[in-house]
Amino acid sequence: MTEENIITFDHVSKEFTRADSKEKLQVLKNINLKIHKGSIFGIIGYSGAGKSTLIRCINGIELPDTGKVDFEDIEINHMPKKQLRETRKEMGMIFQQFNLMPSRTVFENVALPIKYSKQSQQQIKDKVLELLKIVGLPDKADAFPSTLSGGQKQRVAIARALVNDPKVLLCDEATSALDPQTTEDIIQLLRRLNHELDITIVVVTHEMQVIEELCDDVAVLDKGKIVEQGDVYSVFVDPKTPLTKKFIATTSKLNLPDEVLNSNLLKLHDNDLLVKVTYISSKAIEPLISAISRKFNVDANIIVGDIKILRGKPLGGLVIILSGKQSDVSGALSYIKEKQVRTEVLASA
Ligand SMILES: Nc1ncnc2c1ncn2[C@@H]1O[C@H](COP(=O)(O)OP(=O)(O)OP(=O)(O)O)[C@@H](O)[C@H]1O
Ligand SMILES: [Mg+2]
Repeated sequence: MTEENIITFDHVSKEFTRADSKEKLQVLKNINLKIHKGSIFGIIGYSGAGKSTLIRCINGIELPDTGKVDFEDIEINHMPKKQLRETRKEMGMIFQQFNLMPSRTVFENVALPIKYSKQSQQQIKDKVLELLKIVGLPDKADAFPSTLSGGQKQRVAIARALVNDPKVLLCDEATSALDPQTTEDIIQLLRRLNHELDITIVVVTHEMQVIEELCDDVAVLDKGKIVEQGDVYSVFVDPKTPLTKKFIATTSKLNLPDEVLNSNLLKLHDNDLLVKVTYISSKAIEPLISAISRKFNVDANIIVGDIKILRGKPLGGLVIILSGKQSDVSGALSYIKEKQVRTEVLASA
């Protein structure tokens, strides 16, 4: 990844007029984005947020009403048709529903974008077979799509999207039709392609897990507006908007349901506090927990732990019960707060 931008959105807005009511719908509102060359950039939002419209502005399938989209510093929206067609070859695209041709074999599907190119039959064959190997389907060239699993179909679609050696791969909900394990496999494949082919990947999704596991940077899209963006670690440790927090909650085990909080399952006594302790930097939490036990003579019982490593840095935290004398418990709490850790008292006795 470099600091050089391959795609930029500069004050992009777009509206659609509904065919039935002639009502105008503002689908993209003043979008500003910078996508670094070689990075994996994620855009997350609920259904109808404008994700597909946004990603389609990158390859010029949709054109902004105002503002501009640049690809390698050249404006997409005013390109002559022929130049736009050539530029599109630099961008492969994959979809939720794979969009394979059912009557063609895997080989023919992958070869389709270069069928009428200047390449010889042998070159086409070599290219397709090489790509099928890269996506893990070396023996499926003659199979028909209907005989493949969802994950295999998406691998074929990825091979087809790569056949022109694009600089960018656009993924519109590429894992949304897949089960969790297959989603995982496709995420691993996309990461490998990013690394090995140095290809920039733009992903739109409604699944925060995909952002967490795949992306370097993220933008949160809410009703056509970007409400938050940044590198994935920063956004995950310190989300600013309620929508971002809601998405992150879907990937964390630290949110105890109200039934648990309000039940006596947790049995708080005397001065007990139920506290959520989460990372706001890469400083370790575990030594902190043993330190407060020693320093303040409190017990820290771990109720839930969810600590993972994201881009080499710890993310998540613990839910603990602090027990001891009141002054010790509050002293321990203040001590944790001073360290680079966020605390939230969920319940007290
Ligand atoms: N060609 C069009 N004409 C009119 N309205 C459109 C058109 N394309 C999209 N829309 C509307 O624009 C809004 C955003 O659509 P878009 O497909 O970009 O959302 P999305 O975030 O991709 O949603 P999903 O998660 O369901 O795919 C929706 O309300 C949709 O109905
Ligand atoms: Mg969509």
